Amino acid sequence: MKEKILVTGGTGYIGSHTVVELQNNGYEVIIIDNLSNSSADVVDNIEKVSGIRPAFEKLDCLDYEGLDAVFTKYKGIKAIIHFAASKAVGESVQKPLLYYRNNLVSLINLLELMPKHEIGGIVFSSSCTVYGQPDELPVTENAPIKTAESPYGNTKQINEEIIHDTVASGSPIAAILLRYFNPIGAHPSTLLGELPNGVPQNLIPYLTQTAIGIREKLSVFGDDYDTPDGSCIRDFINVVDLAKAHVVAINRILNKKQKEKVEVFNIGTGCGLSVLELINAFEKATGVKLNYQIVARRSGDIEKVWANPEFANNELGWKAETSIEETLRSAWNWQLKLRERGIQ
Ligand code: UD1
Repeated sequence: MKEKILVTGGTGYIGSHTVVELQNNGYEVIIIDNLSNSSADVVDNIEKVSGIRPAFEKLDCLDYEGLDAVFTKYKGIKAIIHFAASKAVGESVQKPLLYYRNNLVSLINLLELMPKHEIGGIVFSSSCTVYGQPDELPVTENAPIKTAESPYGNTKQINEEIIHDTVASGSPIAAILLRYFNPIGAHPSTLLGELPNGVPQNLIPYLTQTAIGIREKLSVFGDDYDTPDGSCIRDFINVVDLAKAHVVAINRILNKKQKEKVEVFNIGTGCGLSVLELINAFEKATGVKLNYQIVARRSGDIEKVWANPEFANNELGWKAETSIEETLRSAWNWQLKLRERGIQ
């Protein structure tokens, strides 16, 4: 019998790619999502990609009774991957309580209900944002956690602590915290990808929307950082590679291969690329010329951060595989597909 995995936020950007990879690896997936930043069509597209329709329940993770009912309905769930969260850094500064409520209470609800339903494992979506500006690069999992730059970042830090404290208290839960660097790109089928609401805040959707003519110009936020070309440096990780890391984490939990009850992994490529290098790589990979201008720094941006992924490479046996060119082509093909579908 297939083992059941519950994926919260499973119709979202990273969630949808992960559902497909779980299905490809023989898991039965139940998605819950409140559709606040995604749509139910994604379930159809997941089915087109994997050939299997996942169970879907429209539900907010703040709804404790609703979660309880879903866990009862799909008896025998083995583990949860918890993606569902609010994730816009700027919005979190404007609406901190919304972010604290959504992101903290959702996780608390899951952790409270897991023992009752004998769900023994959780994989949590964390972020390299917990490191702030690291003192040493590439950054390892042992780097100190820095004061968060935004309520969003703070919710990631607090949620990591909530998991540590819950497990330390004796709760029968095994956890893996995946600290993502900058996920980009789309599924090669062009059936799944990132669908930002309104004006994109993140680099790649803004870039591809500019390339296709929805936006006039991409603004590069700052060229006076202490980096070789003056623009910020990030570790851009392909979303399918990232999705695969979740499958490996789930296998590890279910096969009881963990060395500690809470494990933390950096999920990145190990390569830092500057914003200007990324633009250059996009132009080369797609042959599309990008209209961009240098503007002032964006407040709250980290100057440079990239992963040391060796711990994940060695312990999980996972490695980012897709080249940046292929990843950028997938982001571009997704943007072209959205136009074809009349969405953006
Ligand atoms: C941030 C968060 C990350 C979160 C992600 C998703 C931090 C340190 N990181 O990543 O945890 O998961 O948002 O919301 O808080 N840029 C431009 N022009 C643009 C957009 C971006 O130049 O129009 C630059 C930024 O200045 C930055 C880089 O591109 O240097 C990447 O920005 P972005 O895609 O927004 O991601 P982060 O800020 O790195």
